[in-house]
Amino acid sequence: MNFIRFSDLCANGSAKGKRVFIRADLNVPQDDAGHITEDTRVRASVPAIEMALKAGAAVMVTSHLGRPTEGEFKPADSLAPVAKRLGELLGHPFENGVPLVSNWVDGVSVEPGQVVLLENCRVNKGEKKNSDELARKLGALCDIFVHDAFGTSHRAEGTTYGIAQYAPVACAGPLLAAEMDAISKALANPKRPLAAIVAGSKVSTKLTILKSLASNVDQLIVGGGIANTFMLAAGLNIGKSLAEHDLVDEAKAVIALMKARGAEVPIPTDVVTAKTFSADAVAIVKPATDVDDDDLILDIGPETAAKLAAQLMTAGTIVWNGPVGVFEFAAFESGTKTIAHAIAESSAFSIAGGGDTLAAIAKYGIDKQVGYISTGGGAFLEVLEGKTLPAFEILAKRAAG
Ligand code: 3PG
Repeated sequence: MNFIRFSDLCANGSAKGKRVFIRADLNVPQDDAGHITEDTRVRASVPAIEMALKAGAAVMVTSHLGRPTEGEFKPADSLAPVAKRLGELLGHPFENGVPLVSNWVDGVSVEPGQVVLLENCRVNKGEKKNSDELARKLGALCDIFVHDAFGTSHRAEGTTYGIAQYAPVACAGPLLAAEMDAISKALANPKRPLAAIVAGSKVSTKLTILKSLASNVDQLIVGGGIANTFMLAAGLNIGKSLAEHDLVDEAKAVIALMKARGAEVPIPTDVVTAKTFSADAVAIVKPATDVDDDDLILDIGPETAAKLAAQLMTAGTIVWNGPVGVFEFAAFESGTKTIAHAIAESSAFSIAGGGDTLAAIAKYGIDKQVGYISTGGGAFLEVLEGKTLPAFEILAKRAAG
């Protein structure tokens, strides 16, 4: 997909002295006292801001935080904690925090070499529905619009789509471009074999992804509740395990689709079961054919995990979304841990995304060994579904002139 890159505009001097509006995704989790508990997205926004400052631009940055009611700003909606953290990361002269500007839609005062953070954009009336009136005002605020919010690139809102329609120039920031490059590398032109791990509690929430991947990948590894439904499709008893019985035919269809292409959906040959869903439940490893009616399958067994790990070691590309077991409980984490270490040790290009997956990556300390870790939750999943995200659609349109 063709789009203008902000890095090119900076390199050729086009951003010097210009008003640059960066849409970042600074939607970070906070504790009850408002402290940021995980700052990956704030850190990921820094390269675009530094690039703009270095290029001599007057820089405005905004993001949404949560899902506030438009027109009703509440203190909990404020980007103030983000302004503080961003300032610390940018360092001198912003170490005490980036200036935070409220009520900014009708004009922002900022000079070249300065950066300001514009308060939660979802408080502005018309943002969510991308009202044309708001979009025109946003477009008028800048010379260059930089979309750098991959995590929000599946939303067509005022600051993610409308502004791109009306800004004199609309381009992709380094984070958005890197996400797109990594995803294209993994899915559009992958080094084969291409293995995808899709796990999670429900087939229904990931059915479109499973179908989309089934027509492309060489190996579709399913895990969690999704694997249970596939085990049912393979004729196995899964006891009381979480599954969607009404989607067994859909699972059979995915297996058939893969088989027709000479590809496979490996079905677990052993599992870890318990009688209750709790951290202190007794874990029992058993063959997948021996699951009792009152068993809960909470992880793949060691034989299955070793087999999958060996397959991942021979992959050319790995796409990972979702832990394969209840990895939050020590007794049921082995499957996910084995898969995580296999991904880390494999020479394959790997891309991972989704909240639980990132938690597993952090738990097993493999972040440096994963080829690319996506900052997108819903956006990453929509890409796996094969959708063209609104952000890329509008940036491509603008690049085409
Ligand atoms: C996310 O956290 O996935 C993004 O920031 C998008 O947030 P949203 O689902 O509220 O649009």
